[in-house]
Amino acid sequence: MDKIAIRGGTPLKGEIKISGAKNASLPLMAACLLTDKPLILENVPQLSDIESMGELLTQLGVSVDVGPDSTTLCAKDLNSTTAPYDVVRKMRASVLVLCPLVARAGEAHVSMPGGCAIGPRPIDLHLKGLEALGATITLEEGYVHAHAPNGLIGATYTFPMISVTGTENLLMAATLAKGETRLVNAAREPEVGDLADCLNAMGAKISGIGTSTLVIEGVESLNGTTHKVIGDRIEAGTYAMASALTGGNVRLRGMRLDLIPTVAAFLRQAGVQLDEEGNDILVKAPKGRLKGVDVMTEPFPGFATDLQAQWMALMCTSDGASMITETIFENRFMHVPELCRMGANITVHGSSALVRGVDKLKGAPVMATDLRASVSLVLAGLVAEGETLISRVYHLDRGYEKVEEKLRACGANIERRG
Ligand code: UD1
Repeated sequence: MDKIAIRGGTPLKGEIKISGAKNASLPLMAACLLTDKPLILENVPQLSDIESMGELLTQLGVSVDVGPDSTTLCAKDLNSTTAPYDVVRKMRASVLVLCPLVARAGEAHVSMPGGCAIGPRPIDLHLKGLEALGATITLEEGYVHAHAPNGLIGATYTFPMISVTGTENLLMAATLAKGETRLVNAAREPEVGDLADCLNAMGAKISGIGTSTLVIEGVESLNGTTHKVIGDRIEAGTYAMASALTGGNVRLRGMRLDLIPTVAAFLRQAGVQLDEEGNDILVKAPKGRLKGVDVMTEPFPGFATDLQAQWMALMCTSDGASMITETIFENRFMHVPELCRMGANITVHGSSALVRGVDKLKGAPVMATDLRASVSLVLAGLVAEGETLISRVYHLDRGYEKVEEKLRACGANIERRG
């Protein structure tokens, strides 16, 4: 199994091109199920999660053609409406095929995702919302069976808590439902907006994009379109922190500050300079140490849970203390013991972690436990004295395109070992 070896201590300097967003690409790929015409997506990153979604769609009968500049998906004829356990187990976002399948084919059979490393992550909101649109749902032998043989019917559904993929799933369902649907307390993540923009380009009638109430006027059918996936704000936030942590100076190509508003505000509080220039963000670390800054994870536009582990790595060597509170997922502090093995001083109390800044981290063998935890170890490795050897890096490959290549181009001493 691959490992990543890092020798820390080099400030990152140079340019990093931000890839297309994984979390926007996955629902956009699933949206191809809503039409028998081709959907062409540009700027889709090359990641194992994207491959998994491609494999699932292929199993359903979609032709998936990955070209150098775009991915063409065509669901002309579907030959299955089942997302099997083997696929859903590997990637929870597979559940995004549920609503488009019901909307298009009148039925879907999707394996329940089960637990994952960062908590139980149920899909009850996806199911309740789909029931509100008239589907009948049964659970049998670990599978969700959803039926709406006469089509879905528009309704108002209020999310009791904000769910990103829940909003995306129901948004797709509502595009082909009869009449008007209102999704209240919807997620406002930019990836939801990107999906809505693409669906509108396909002929859907969605308004309220970017707000917490989405109003969808159902249409008879959707067309294909060509859509460019937005940049990955989590990747951008990660590299902004990597450059701040190492005392570096990096240009993030293809990212805007309004996609990372809270992260940018917190980085500035910590002493980092951020400027927008054309389509790029310039990140400049302060001369001395960063200041400790408290953060709490929240749905967008709050601080993203997907950047919590990286922020913790950043705070490990800051001047002062930082209280980091996780409000979205249970059990999302698995990086803590690994960071402590590198010399960090972190105490966890329930859903909060108190990080007391130390002078330096020291390289150690560590283990990646989930996608964002694994990149936090890469960040820590970039400043640690000596060698950090990270195992189970397949987690990293799910969400970070060409991570070693991008960091090496900015001077990092990082290599993959088979
Ligand atoms: C998405 C992102 C993930 C990110 C997360 C929160 C994708 C593919 N993944 O995941 O990277 O960390 O948003 O920003 O876009 N919940 C329920 N019932 C449900 C659905 C969710 O209780 O039916 C709970 C979850 O357990 C969690 C919270 O709601 O505590 C938010 O989860 P949600 O926004 O749904 O996360 P995902 O969409 O799975």
